[in-house]
Amino acid sequence: MCDLSYDFYDETCPSIFDVVRTEMLSARANDLRIPASLLRLHFHDCFVLGCDGSVLLDDTINFTGEKNAVPNKNSARGFGVIDKIKYVLENKCPSTVSCADILALAARDAVVLSYGPRWRVLLGRRDGRRASFAEANDLPSPLDSIENITYKFRLKGLDTNDVAALSGAHTIGLVQCRFFKERLYNFNNTGKPDPTLDPILVKELQIICGCPNYTFDSNLSPLDRGTPILFDNNYYTNVDTKRGILSSDHALLNDDTISSLVNKYSQNQDLFFNDFVVSMEKMGRIGVLLGQQGEIRTNCSRINYY
Ligand code: HEM
Repeated sequence: MCDLSYDFYDETCPSIFDVVRTEMLSARANDLRIPASLLRLHFHDCFVLGCDGSVLLDDTINFTGEKNAVPNKNSARGFGVIDKIKYVLENKCPSTVSCADILALAARDAVVLSYGPRWRVLLGRRDGRRASFAEANDLPSPLDSIENITYKFRLKGLDTNDVAALSGAHTIGLVQCRFFKERLYNFNNTGKPDPTLDPILVKELQIICGCPNYTFDSNLSPLDRGTPILFDNNYYTNVDTKRGILSSDHALLNDDTISSLVNKYSQNQDLFFNDFVVSMEKMGRIGVLLGQQGEIRTNCSRINYY
């Protein structure tokens, strides 16, 4: 009650683990990108008002959610999977499991289903009754400097080690051209590609994204073009060899501590997995609501009405 625990639902909803896993498996069978999308959704949840399910709330006439904030709009995905899991759990154990916990478990299973590490998830988060459009707009941006990124993480109680380890999530999933296109053609208004981007990768991405004046901006590239659906340490090899696609990926090399971890992780997958798990647990604790705080939503996309 006073803190998160591993056995929070052991008496009240023991099937939670099976339900989340089964639904994640079936969602992934239809869409290989789903694990990545849910891992990112948990990050976007925890960084805005804490891990309280606020990212899941829809806009209504008198409620402004986070889904239309710049980092989420036409970008955050996987909401339907959470709604489906919630629907199944409401039938088995009504008003018991929070949407914030579903998201934390789905993120863990996302990593496991992508052949990454497994860890036990601390549970007992409650759902928030508010959202913050402004905070969501302030999520780390792909154009942020490393100083800005580490600052934004520090505000959430996360340090440079966490920046290094959690960035490894970009070993799975896809990215739209609009988030990196200026690196391909007109870096810093030079009319040339970003010199810190591998020229071969520039060519590959130009084919995917189209010409500078064309607007195929929602075309997609894997974030890790080597092993796009495998949760492994290849992301760090990419960053080390100028193949980090986002400018914020490459920026990891501009901080000595982070850069040295990037190098270590690229050579030691076990070390990356261990540190990733530690940082995920830390992230999953940000600003959690406990005990009688908040509520247990019956529908993840809206607050309970009372
Ligand atoms: C360090 C600062 C970060 C920045 C600037 C950043 C930015 C982005 C951007 C721009 C995308 C592409 C979205 C799109 O094309 O629609 C993306 C995708 C993704 N991000 Fe991050 N991210 C950061 C950290 C994280 C963290 C901490 C995690 C998770 C722990 C994460 C997990 C992911 C995943 C898995 C995807 C792929 C999503 C999908 O395919 O649907 N990111 N990120």
